[in-house]
Amino acid sequence: MKFVVTAGPTREPFDPVRFLSNRSSGKMGYALAEAALQAGHEVTLISGPVQIPAPKGAQFVAITTSEELYGATRRAVENCDVLVMCAAVADYKPTRVAGTKPKKKAGTFSLKLTPTRDILATLASGAHDYFVVGFAAETNDVEANARHKLCSKNCDIMVANDVSRNDRGMESDRNEVTIFFREGGSKTIAVAPKKIIARKLLKIILSARENSLTKKTC
Ligand code: PMT
Repeated sequence: MKFVVTAGPTREPFDPVRFLSNRSSGKMGYALAEAALQAGHEVTLISGPVQIPAPKGAQFVAITTSEELYGATRRAVENCDVLVMCAAVADYKPTRVAGTKPKKKAGTFSLKLTPTRDILATLASGAHDYFVVGFAAETNDVEANARHKLCSKNCDIMVANDVSRNDRGMESDRNEVTIFFREGGSKTIAVAPKKIIARKLLKIILSARENSLTKKTC
């Protein structure tokens, strides 16, 4: 089976040397890519800037901005069975990118931001053959927010994680995830190293796809 996995943060520049980004380390997405490779699948790993090496055997595509991530993912999904959107994509980008580094001035400095393209919602809409796995990074009301994203982004399953804690989630080596299915059920994988979470999650993704556990009810 062919997997496309996105991982890591995007960077949205506002001048030649500065950008908006987030703390995503890439660990969760890379662990998923590795789990799929170890299970004998083909993997295209599309990654923002991170400090960890790509798993051996993955077809690796490096991106920086959300628009680069969109372009690379759109090309890769043309030929895939499962899309896993684990990347922490910026929701907004600076409206204008200065051509030169602005000089420091007295007083406050404001940035005008424009929403980025919703890559997951775009690639999950319309006719396609691939199974779509979204991730929901939440700090509060995890279930309600994840269920809303599952439906509004038209995913087959949504994997929610709490990113308000230091002992799991973003940047940590560990995670705890709850997988929400479109027909209403959910499954939680208790806190564990991301490599273990990835192996268990892969089995759930494959079984959901195989057994059509997920009926399009929203
Ligand atoms: O990289 P780590 O340090 O290991 O941390 C892992 C993680 C916390 C980043 C990961 O498990 C995770 O939750 N990834 C999703 C991060 C995110 O952007 O969540 P969100 O709830 O803001 O977005 C929901 C979904 O929409 C995600 O699948 C995201 O990839 C996608 N999205 C978001 C915005 C956008 N413009 N386009 C998108 O496709």
